[in-house]
Amino acid sequence: MRILVFDSGVGGLSVAREIGKALPGVGMDYVADLAVFPYGALEPGVLIDRVLSLMETALAALDPAALVIACNTASTLVLPPLRARFKLPIVGTVPAVKPAAEHSRSRLASVLATPGTVKRDYTRGLIDRFGGDCRFTLVGSMVLAELVERAVSGESVTDAELLAEIAPCFVEEAGRRTDTVVLACTHYPLVLDRLRALAPWPVEWIDPAPAIARRVATVTAGAGRSRDEGAPHRFFSTGRRPVPAMLDAFGFEDGGDLFAGEALKIARG
Ligand code: DGL
Repeated sequence: MRILVFDSGVGGLSVAREIGKALPGVGMDYVADLAVFPYGALEPGVLIDRVLSLMETALAALDPAALVIACNTASTLVLPPLRARFKLPIVGTVPAVKPAAEHSRSRLASVLATPGTVKRDYTRGLIDRFGGDCRFTLVGSMVLAELVERAVSGESVTDAELLAEIAPCFVEEAGRRTDTVVLACTHYPLVLDRLRALAPWPVEWIDPAPAIARRVATVTAGAGRSRDEGAPHRFFSTGRRPVPAMLDAFGFEDGGDLFAGEALKIARG
């Protein structure tokens, strides 16, 4: 069986890593839309069209048992149109508001995400439905996903750059402090050790990847052999090629040019 994992960039590897642990025998194909990354500031309509068109190409070529949208910025918009168009099981990644509300004792929690994710009605809806009496601070970072892309590719990213992005998550109010931070962009768990070390005080960082991996295991139970059964984990990208050392670190090989024909220019809002 093979699974297709999609993100705008390398962040979805934080989800792929957990899928590999939950389903050790599975083959993974990963698609990163590096030509358009970051998705965080894209207009919703542009983002939806882009993801539908890439998935059309990828699903036809790779024929996976399930598709994982390992991107909060995309999942909070594209899951309904994707499910309407494609019939395979589709697992999304959305802000882990419910586990955060269950965990927080100070009743102050933060959602750290891209500007797109914090603006979405979907995210507000999750807080209304599952937040209870927990007060959520929504922190939309313009650059943290990009800093993570750089760090994972071996470029230097300073502590000051990272701290500036996470600092607004830490709120002190009437003797209470934020005790829970939702990592609502799949890039962020890739630098979790550094975020933990830089945090002004200890908090619980909620990474939804293990829960997503369990969901993938459930929806693919009983799936048969895939067309390319036994092939290595393959990484496909639009635009630039990924850094080989990064692929090695996650157990992926460069899959080559699946999207050679895709139009790479899109309008930005
Ligand atoms: N990894 C993506 C997410 O989970 C976002 C990165 C981007 O801005 O494209 O939201």
